[in-house]
Amino acid sequence: MAPAAVEIVLVRTAEQMAAAYAIRRRVFIEEQKIDPELERDHYDLSALHVLALENGRTVGCGRVVLTAAGAKIGRMAVLAEKRGGGIGRMVLDALVEIARRNGARLAYLHAQVPVEGFYLKSGFHGAGEVFEEAGIPHRRMDLPL
Ligand SMILES: CC(C)(COP(=O)(O)OP(=O)(O)OC[C@H]1O[C@@H](n2cnc3c(N)ncnc32)[C@H](O)[C@@H]1OP(=O)(O)O)[C@@H](O)C(=O)NCCC(=O)NCCS
Repeated sequence: MAPAAVEIVLVRTAEQMAAAYAIRRRVFIEEQKIDPELERDHYDLSALHVLALENGRTVGCGRVVLTAAGAKIGRMAVLAEKRGGGIGRMVLDALVEIARRNGARLAYLHAQVPVEGFYLKSGFHGAGEVFEEAGIPHRRMDLPL
């Protein structure tokens, strides 16, 4: 069940974007030790970003890039102490909904192998071999819309 105090909002302001970057810094750079040079990329400029807010405090984020090949979901992160309570699913559902509303026929992502199960639970299926990205094993996963 979705946590009652949590809402998902579309990023519209520079302050909200800074909040998303702050979550990504905590999770990807500090926790997962991903190279800061790789963490932000040019897709951040064209992507639609969402925040998960718990009682107004940012606890998670994600983005979707609308491309001709489909809607690419990524940079999904929930603060470590907030995991396992349904927030990640709310973020993912919101990104898939944005993809649908924008007419995408396919949502896809590069899942870190240890969290494939999270995406499987939302209907994504593995598509292809494991590859390395930012030093972490990943597999492409697809969700036809
Ligand atoms: C992946 C991540 C966003 C999931 O967020 P979360 O808030 O913990 O996920 P939820 O609580 O909404 O989980 C939804 C379901 O997926 C399951 N799930 C969550 N993480 C899982 C995992 N690593 N493996 C298998 N299942 C998982 C949950 O048990 C839950 O199942 P249920 O509906 O049967 O109870 C979060 O673990 C995270 O930020 N990880 C670090 C960053 C990361 O790896 N991002 C993804 C990069 S591809």
